[in-house]
Amino acid sequence: MDAIFDTIDFVENPLYEKIIADLLSQQYSVVENFFSTKEVELLRQSLIKKHEDDAFKKAAIGNRFEETIIKSIRGDVILWMDETKANASEQLFFNKLNNLVNYLNRTCFLGILQKEFHYALYPIGTYYKRHIDTFQNDDRRKLSFVCYLNEADWQPENGGELALYLNDNGQESEKIIYPFPGRVVIFESQIIEHEVRPVNKERMSITGWLKTR
Ligand code: OGA
Ligand code: MN
Repeated sequence: MDAIFDTIDFVENPLYEKIIADLLSQQYSVVENFFSTKEVELLRQSLIKKHEDDAFKKAAIGNRFEETIIKSIRGDVILWMDETKANASEQLFFNKLNNLVNYLNRTCFLGILQKEFHYALYPIGTYYKRHIDTFQNDDRRKLSFVCYLNEADWQPENGGELALYLNDNGQESEKIIYPFPGRVVIFESQIIEHEVRPVNKERMSITGWLKTR
């Protein structure tokens, strides 16, 4: 019975359909205004507040020797988000995200059962060298999701571009994506190598992964 009602209830969502079509044809999708100006502002304030409260940690740090190595790979500071303790703006974030996940699971049988998200702040001069998101032996990461929380008048000169390295039958090309506020980038975690170019202005985002079990 449930299945029948599910089918009747199903409403096609053009935005989600575009994301799916993009992922199938090019393994990534860039969506403008996934989050509204207002939502970006709320999430940005949430990030700034938590950063001021000193809750952020340097990404993945072990001992001091490792710290030097890691800094030469990535210079962002991060704070993992806890959906069970979400504030109002984070609830907005997770509501939208969960809608997308439900849609993907329903239409693409992706089997996304877990997710993990963190705030990220790149201080001036930092970057994240070319990498793939499954390098930490976590092959459950299926889709990477990045949403930019930069100020409204973010300029290309501010740097911090996301560069995707695409492979067309052995021919490599770069897709450069500016971190404009409200913009979301989704890509196949296990396939697409990418990097964050050096930033000339503090760069803010939420990054996460949709995972299979
Ligand atoms: C990452 C990453 C991309 C971006 O955190 O793994 O690649 O544009 N982020 O912030
Ligand atoms: Mn990455």
